[in-house]
Amino acid sequence: MNLLDGKHVSAKIKEDIKQEAAELTTKLGRKPHLVAILVGHDGGSETYVASKMRNCEQVGFESTNLHYEADITEEALLSKITEINQDPSVDGLIVQLPLPKHIDPEKVTEAIDYRKDVDGFHPINLGRMQRNLPCFIPATPYGILLMLEHYQIDTSGKKAVIIGRSNIVGSPMSILLARNANPGNCTVTLTHSRTTNLAQEVQDADIIVAAIGKKNFVTADMVKEGAIVIDVGINREVSDLTKSGYKLFGDVDFEAVAPKSSWITPVPGGVGLMTIVGLLKNTLEAAKGTFYTK
Ligand code: GUN
Repeated sequence: MNLLDGKHVSAKIKEDIKQEAAELTTKLGRKPHLVAILVGHDGGSETYVASKMRNCEQVGFESTNLHYEADITEEALLSKITEINQDPSVDGLIVQLPLPKHIDPEKVTEAIDYRKDVDGFHPINLGRMQRNLPCFIPATPYGILLMLEHYQIDTSGKKAVIIGRSNIVGSPMSILLARNANPGNCTVTLTHSRTTNLAQEVQDADIIVAAIGKKNFVTADMVKEGAIVIDVGINREVSDLTKSGYKLFGDVDFEAVAPKSSWITPVPGGVGLMTIVGLLKNTLEAAKGTFYTK
């Protein structure tokens, strides 16, 4: 078993981003700038956004966190997005999900200027990604690709089974691994809540991407000897054993699965750290204007 070490890879890529950000800051006369909108007080979301902001500072970006109460109207939120779309000092804009029930996440996603959509959720970015054209790729799948690339893992011709079809991870991951690209060129199976005999599908996989949000969902009996196992799960449980008061669990039973796998990501210290790197790389691209001229 080899560890796909998110701590090591993310630190290395962040050093490169920091250097590029410094050069770009000299050229533009300002730092690359990410704005994150957070609505309400979901504990997980508050932690993730704080981490995104902290990471921006670490690589020399400017970051702004706009935090609204859960009762903000959809209209007020959309109007704020329009304002930021038009602000030339902002390169990237993300709205942390999930949103309160009275706000339509699809409307919010489409309201963000696709040229600032560093989450890669806008249909224009999604369509361009499917066509293998320059675009913003959603941060978690992007981070996974960067990890596979770092360890020079050859995915071509492999059978990839993805567990979970979310817009944020499972669905874009299925597109990316199926593309005629490297990493890519996989035969992809996208499994979900209606999949019959999910365990059997997973047993066939050379590459497993677990993104279902259920602690220890992937057990050793579901994993083929030598499989590559990517664990996207961040399941938080209250714990008095950690400083934060929470302990994180993946979607994979790591202890039991690791000995069977050829490569595996730990939780924490795996995909979560790479997600941040994906977001930082997209923000840098947005500031460079490489994909889209503003
Ligand atoms: N909620 C969970 N993951 C993400 C993400 O990558 N971006 C946003 N905006 N919200 C999320």
